[in-house]
Amino acid sequence: MDLNDRVAWITGSGGGIGRATALRFAAAGARVAASDVNHAGVAETVELIRAAGGTAEAFVGDVASAESVDSIVDGVLGAWGRLDVLVNNAGITRDGLAVRIKDGSVTRLAEDAWDAVLDINLKGTFLCCQAVAVPMIRQGYGRIVNTASVSAFGNVGQANYSASKAGVIGLTRTLALEWARHGIAVNCVAPGGVRTQMTAAIPERLMTALLERIPIGRLAEPEEIASVHLFLASDASSYVNGQCLVVDAGARL
Ligand SMILES: NC(=O)c1ccc[n+]([C@@H]2O[C@H](COP(=O)([O-])OP(=O)(O)OC[C@H]3O[C@@H](n4cnc5c(N)ncnc54)[C@H](O)[C@@H]3O)[C@@H](O)[C@H]2O)c1
Repeated sequence: MDLNDRVAWITGSGGGIGRATALRFAAAGARVAASDVNHAGVAETVELIRAAGGTAEAFVGDVASAESVDSIVDGVLGAWGRLDVLVNNAGITRDGLAVRIKDGSVTRLAEDAWDAVLDINLKGTFLCCQAVAVPMIRQGYGRIVNTASVSAFGNVGQANYSASKAGVIGLTRTLALEWARHGIAVNCVAPGGVRTQMTAAIPERLMTALLERIPIGRLAEPEEIASVHLFLASDASSYVNGQCLVVDAGARL
């Protein structure tokens, strides 16, 4: 699998899965546009790529802002004149609390936690897809890889995150249908637990319970998601469209 001559934009690539994907894509021959709200993180990603002999540019921007997204796309087109691959990886969690009451459970979730997660995970994915569709349609070629999660199928305390990721699956399937005729494939990945900053915040008791549900008894490394991104971004998956690929080592929900 290679990405020779491809220009690939990876959001949220200042760390975690996004950084691993940026490094993997650059090693596969892509010119990488790495973006993040975290300036220092994305600058370090670009340094790592260049130190390994790859080509990359850093862009700072918030995926939930249309203005910011448009300016990144303008920057990428200005640098390389095309945009072939988008990996919508930027995402956050703001978990709530499932409170048990006498006759059931109710989720205590602040409205701003709902808005922030839906804005970044779902609206951000939509805005980036919409922004790259213009150059991709002009080229008659594009590959978009969105990021869902196994939490899309339900996870206690994550009503906002789960809803945002289930939304990403619906968005992926719809854009896949709409844009196939333009040579654009849209798929998504639904990782289980991955060892990044995001899972570092999980309390030990919950982590033990999580590991017990994973048949191979460990979290994924970010590189193990990056290699699935590479498959879906490359022409090795030329007949794959509108799919959600679960990457969780066969864990039980
Ligand atoms: N780690 C897991 O277990 C796991 C599981 C399933 C899905 N995911 C998803 O994978 C993706 C990457 O997660 P990760 O574990 O690498 O997390 P991470 O927190 O390590 O990295 C996320 C990156 O996104 C950036 N980011 C956050 N808000 C942003 C915004 N508004 N605009 C641009 N960048 C922004 C952060 O600065 C950070 O660099 C997320 O979409 C996450 O929901 C992660």
